[in-house]
Amino acid sequence: MPSSVRIVEVGPRDGLQNEKAIIPTAAKIELIDRLSATGLRTVEATSFVSPKWVPQLADAAEVYAGIARRPGVRYPVLVPNERGYERARAAGADEVAVFTAASEAFNKANINASIDESLERFAPVLERAKADGVPVRGYVSTVLGCPYQGEVPVAGVVHVARALHQMGCYEISLGDTIGVGTPGKARAMLLAVAEAIPMPALAVHFHDTYGQALANILACLEEGVAVVDAAVSGTGGCPYAKGATGNVASEDVAYMLRGMGIETGIDLDALSDTGRWLAALLSRDTGSKVTRARAAS
Ligand code: HMG
Ligand code: MG
Repeated sequence: MPSSVRIVEVGPRDGLQNEKAIIPTAAKIELIDRLSATGLRTVEATSFVSPKWVPQLADAAEVYAGIARRPGVRYPVLVPNERGYERARAAGADEVAVFTAASEAFNKANINASIDESLERFAPVLERAKADGVPVRGYVSTVLGCPYQGEVPVAGVVHVARALHQMGCYEISLGDTIGVGTPGKARAMLLAVAEAIPMPALAVHFHDTYGQALANILACLEEGVAVVDAAVSGTGGCPYAKGATGNVASEDVAYMLRGMGIETGIDLDALSDTGRWLAALLSRDTGSKVTRARAAS
């Protein structure tokens, strides 16, 4: 079990990308600034993807330009190709993430590429990032199931994760995109990947569609993973993964870790306040049980 965990806050990106009503740029900037004031060390800010594919994040450059960068906080962004990398760099980003999947069918739907094609697309991004001194994170989606093809063999997850790591990604985030995983399978998948990539270079990314996310995270913590992706207020979902709901709520992960004596550096009150603020902005109840319970008590 790690003694400290870095929560990678993906709310401004994963949390908002699936929202149908366009959120004002100023509100996105306020969300990021509020999050960076909670003690979070990484706040994924936005995506430089095609605005035709994800209209909600078409204002990525304006969002990035507007945030008040706090020393010690990292603000990575998603890039699907070289064009995205160039846009991200022009906007001032100094950390990026590339994303592919262990399932061919999902990749086709999400980025219009096969797994091999996606890796070919990332090669120039990684080369340029290396030359620019820009760290690159790699995401592998559908690690515990695919909305189109169902079961995803663990060997395929290991293959893609290893390829991203060998290309130079400093960290690989393993994504249960549709939240179908259960703890035994999550643990086995993580251990299989950890045979190819050292555990400190792995992160887990659970959507909570089936209510399994915290249990899955606990199983992975027990195996030594120390980086956990989460989204404030449990927002999130991928527009190209039917039925996928929110990420595990950051407040719920922070509460569990605090209760276990694992350090995160996060001020839970400030994070819950931000979750409540975001829920009000989106005109819905918070997706965090912890924030709901604290509001009621
Ligand atoms: P495509 O249509 O195959 O490619 O899209 P294209 O090259 O023909 O581009 C289409 C149009 O987009 C063109 O414009 C390009 O110029 C433009 P047009 O000529 O028609 O006017 N374009 C761009 N514009 C701005 N920035 C760019 C860019 N690239 C092309 N970077 C593409 C291929 C990859 C671009 C597209 O499929 C795409 O953007 N997909 C992104 C989908 C996405 O963001 N999904 C959600 C993120 S992944 C996720 O949520 C999972 C994760 O959370 C982990 C998990 O939960 O598992 C990470
Ligand atoms: Mg996700």
